[in-house]
Amino acid sequence: RVVAVLSGGLSHERDVSLRSGRRLSAALRDQGLTVEEWDTDSELLTRLRDQRPDAVVVALHGGEGENGSVQTVLEMLGIPFVGSTSQSCRRAFDKPTAKAELARAGLSTPDWVVLPHGTFRELGAQYVLDAMTDRLGLPMMLKPDQGGSALGAQVVRSAGQLPAAMVNCLAYGETVLAEQFVSGVEVAVTVVDGANGPEALPAVEIVPESGVYDYTARYTAGLTDFYAPARLTEDSAKAVGELAVQAHRLLGLRDISRTDAVISSDGTVNFLEVNLSPGLTETSSLPMAVEAAGRSLGEVFSELIERSVN
Ligand code: DAL
Ligand code: MG
Repeated sequence: RVVAVLSGGLSHERDVSLRSGRRLSAALRDQGLTVEEWDTDSELLTRLRDQRPDAVVVALHGGEGENGSVQTVLEMLGIPFVGSTSQSCRRAFDKPTAKAELARAGLSTPDWVVLPHGTFRELGAQYVLDAMTDRLGLPMMLKPDQGGSALGAQVVRSAGQLPAAMVNCLAYGETVLAEQFVSGVEVAVTVVDGANGPEALPAVEIVPESGVYDYTARYTAGLTDFYAPARLTEDSAKAVGELAVQAHRLLGLRDISRTDAVISSDGTVNFLEVNLSPGLTETSSLPMAVEAAGRSLGEVFSELIERSVN
């Protein structure tokens, strides 16, 4: 049986994905699987058609690998793959869509506004910035509506920082998601589909030294402290696990996902976003969660591969 691990790709998260792919491939080889690492480029389609791997694991982050495009190709070719279907990816990858669906279902998520690029031209930049600040207050969080690894994301603490932050965010996408900034304990919760349905692994608490979990803090060893399991009360640990499982279920996700959340001082668990192809690098939280659960990355993914082909 041949498993192709797709990594790399052309998104801004290419380097992260290459690291995820390398680590996952090594972990799967340790399980005795035959693994091919494919750097995903324009040859993907022909390669998949000609070589037809028995299963695929999508270790791509951002762009085509996470927005449902690559999943559509795999579904059309009838090649089994680990991860959510194209339809679920399309919905959940868009942060405002995911937030709206979960808010409708009663989950807490910071108040937000969506600003397509054109809004600024139509209404005038100053008007839009003032309206945003009135609505959300400061500090606020800006993120590209579809993106990952905190690229283009920024905490805005004063009105003066807003224009530059907006420009930086728009460099990564056409639409900005502006959110009320909620301070508190940041956690990442991995959910894995098991024999009894989706199950949350222990939450991982994230404490960046600089106070901001940006790209550098994410991928430079030593710049962020991780606690796996998170230092939470039993009630909070249970609540974040439930939130992540609910997100996984309500968004119709399959196999594996990671929900990022923040627990504010009053104990509210706020949904921030869900990741369909969570990072698997040395500094990513998913492998830490797996270890805290007493399992190994190779074991978890080989079980998901096994399930995908059956
Ligand atoms: N988008 C990165 C890879 C993550 O969520 O881990
Ligand atoms: Mg993300």
